[in-house]
Amino acid sequence: MADEEKCKQCHGCKKPARWREDFPVQWEKDEYVTRREMVKFLSLGSLLIAGANLIAAAVPRFQSRGEFPRVRIASSHQIAADGSLLFRYPTDEDPCLLVRNRKGELVGYSQVCTHLSCAIVHRPEENTLFCPCHHGYFSVEEGRPTAGPPTRSLPRIKLEQTGDDIFAVGIGI
Ligand code: FES
Repeated sequence: MADEEKCKQCHGCKKPARWREDFPVQWEKDEYVTRREMVKFLSLGSLLIAGANLIAAAVPRFQSRGEFPRVRIASSHQIAADGSLLFRYPTDEDPCLLVRNRKGELVGYSQVCTHLSCAIVHRPEENTLFCPCHHGYFSVEEGRPTAGPPTRSLPRIKLEQTGDDIFAVGIGI
């Protein structure tokens, strides 16, 4: 109906209305294109979300298979009784702490506090791992929180020893 609207400036003229010349799109076609674009948008959006979910599901599987690199991190003789050493594992972005506890065993932990991610330090005089940000404490033997705001244990770095060489081989809980 609107398409047949005629020019009203001159009486009886057969030209189409002036606005029709400026906007030549017909309403029916305009709606058709919009609906089609919407379906395209929804389809692509669904595909993107499905792809992101697949990636999110695959990452923990990759880690739980224990596919971590085996990296030499120190020589055993470098770490005295009650001593510690910083290293990075599994990537250069992941700071960790290697500690010889009072039983003489070597234990490795992520250096990232489980409260708000500050760096923990070894305090041999107190036989503890300490987070200076909010005074969080973790046990040297197991990495579990003993005082302050942290409620989760530090991720444990799995270690292996071959001769004098200490290797990081994975991350446990
Ligand atoms: S960040 Fe370690 S106690 Fe808050």
